[in-house]
Amino acid sequence: MKLFTTILLSLSTLVLSVKGAATPSTWLSVEDVSSEFNANATSLNKREGTEIVTCYNTGTKVDRGPSVSSIDNFCARVIGTHVANGQTVAYRYDWGSFTILVSGQAINGCSFTIDNNCGRLLRLPLDKCNTSGENGKQGGYERDTCGTWRYDPGSNGSDF
Ligand SMILES: *[C@@H]1O[C@H](CO)[C@@H](O)[C@H](O)[C@H]1NC(C)=O
Ligand SMILES: *[C@@H]1O[C@H](CO)[C@@H](O)[C@H](O)[C@H]1NC(C)=O
Ligand SMILES: *[C@@H]1O[C@H](CO)[C@@H](O)[C@H](O)[C@H]1NC(C)=O
Repeated sequence: MKLFTTILLSLSTLVLSVKGAATPSTWLSVEDVSSEFNANATSLNKREGTEIVTCYNTGTKVDRGPSVSSIDNFCARVIGTHVANGQTVAYRYDWGSFTILVSGQAINGCSFTIDNNCGRLLRLPLDKCNTSGENGKQGGYERDTCGTWRYDPGSNGSDF
């Protein structure tokens, strides 16, 4: 029995150390953090405009895989949600050694219902930033006349 316990313990240690080395296949937890961003939301009409991508080029680096998983899960949760001017919809995905914040905000007097552009817009700061390889993504945001779409890897308790 004692031997058995020892074997079990070393097995779980092995599993833990293997897990610690690689990105987990899914996030450990996800939290609706919209309230961190919403103090002053009011409502107006929808407009459109050029889509401009800003890359952070600094901060936590993550792989594309967990980034796409987080973005796609975020969009599945929020498509159909109405966002009033100034309001932000935000989820933070906890992957253990890093987090990924994904958010959408209505700006410039616009309000809108989130549609299938969600995934496309959030992939802009993923795929148009840190383009030298598939990984090493540091995030950024897309901004157009009506909205800001942010994809932001973080660690150590911050979104940086
Ligand atoms: C809301 O408005 C107040 C006063 O203008 C400002 O201090 C605060 O930072 C705003 N909060 C957010 C989340 O934008
Ligand atoms: C987070 O903390 C670890 C350990 O202190 C450090 O190596 C790493 O550079 C930090 N990451 C960022 C993005 O500051
Ligand atoms: C991300 O891209 C910027 C601009 O090309 C570059 O300065 C930065 O070093 C890149 N980060 C990584 C982790 O490759």
